[in-house]
Amino acid sequence: MIKHIIQYDTTAIFHYVILFAIYSFMGWIIEVVYRSITQRKFINAGFLHGTFIPLYGFGAIFVIVLEYLFHTLHPVIKMFVFGSVLTVMEYIVSFLFEKIFKLKLWDYCGNAFNIHGRVCLLFSAFWTALALIFLTLIHPAVSRSVDMLDGTFVGAASIIFLTYGAADFIFSVTSIGAFRHKIAYLYSEYFNLSNVEIEKIFTSFQRLRNAFPYLNRYIDNNINGEIKNRIRAILKSIQEKIIGELNGRRPFEKEFYYAINDIYQHEEFMKLGNYYHHNSSIYDHVKDVSYFAYRICKRLKLDYRSAARGALLHDFFLYNWRDHDAPDLPKENNHGIEHPKIALANAEKYFSLNEIEKDIIKKHMWPLTLVPPKYKESFIVTFADKYLSSKEFIEEFKKIRRQRLARRPGKKHRLRKKIKVH
Ligand SMILES: [Fe+2]
Ligand SMILES: [Fe+2]
Repeated sequence: MIKHIIQYDTTAIFHYVILFAIYSFMGWIIEVVYRSITQRKFINAGFLHGTFIPLYGFGAIFVIVLEYLFHTLHPVIKMFVFGSVLTVMEYIVSFLFEKIFKLKLWDYCGNAFNIHGRVCLLFSAFWTALALIFLTLIHPAVSRSVDMLDGTFVGAASIIFLTYGAADFIFSVTSIGAFRHKIAYLYSEYFNLSNVEIEKIFTSFQRLRNAFPYLNRYIDNNINGEIKNRIRAILKSIQEKIIGELNGRRPFEKEFYYAINDIYQHEEFMKLGNYYHHNSSIYDHVKDVSYFAYRICKRLKLDYRSAARGALLHDFFLYNWRDHDAPDLPKENNHGIEHPKIALANAEKYFSLNEIEKDIIKKHMWPLTLVPPKYKESFIVTFADKYLSSKEFIEEFKKIRRQRLARRPGKKHRLRKKIKVH
């Protein structure tokens, strides 16, 4: 076989080009199935835009060559050789990507026995098993079928595949480069860009983010991390005042009530009172967040009216999030990520919203939802929501603990005993 290739036997070369294409395509199917199941939506996996993952193609050709070279070895040693070569290959590809594109496309850091997150024992074992299945069940049949094809057809198909593959490769490499530039651009120009422009940039690399979820961490570190730092610096100076505002909270002020009244009294909105949230109803929670955000924004001379209205509508979802299987949100969907969209859709159905209010509702779960808020008012609502939610959760936790302790049999008896001893 190798002799054929060395002798520039074009028929043999075309034969292997076709095998490479078929195995790259099969690899793409394996990745699509795996990613679509784990991410619960269709994912066009892989670095290329087309339906091929060359890493699998190269892996398959390597395995065929290894089998040719080591077919006399004991099966266990052979398995070890296959596993080692495939692991080295995976390591090199990951290493080159990091060096050339400054991007990590996968990271096994969370898996046991990994080397620099580039390879790990579990996946190496999986590749070895796949190689054995491939050699015994898949390759003999596929190779026989390709052998039966007409030589001219194989030649033409190979040339078409190579031309298409080269074009896709160049296009995909350009996309990766563009991705990094866009991240840098978003970071430096974030506050000067419009919402539409930001959404457009995020959507433009949606496919890459779906195919390589690890890239989300890259975005999180490069955009969210930096923006969080900038916001933290702004909030730090007013943090004490903010807490003071909350603690010294007065009953509804006329101005605040005037700003939110049409929403607050709306029949549909009042249904939020029927749904238990952290330690009370959603209705009470959103009112508190709204008032808190209103006070902060008023102090900072921001658009406090939009902040109050957006904050009031930020959790406008009508289902029990602890046990949901509502038409708005089926069981398999994640409440944390989905509910801002549901709240926005509900809010737009009953009220007319400005851009700040929409941004507040849509981004209030940031950084869980990846795209950062656009306006200072939105950042303040995300802060107010997290701050009050944590307080509410702690209060709820304390309440449950008190109730459990009170229910524990013999507690009163033990207490009485203690009093007697002392
Ligand atoms: Fe929320
Ligand atoms: Fe909330």
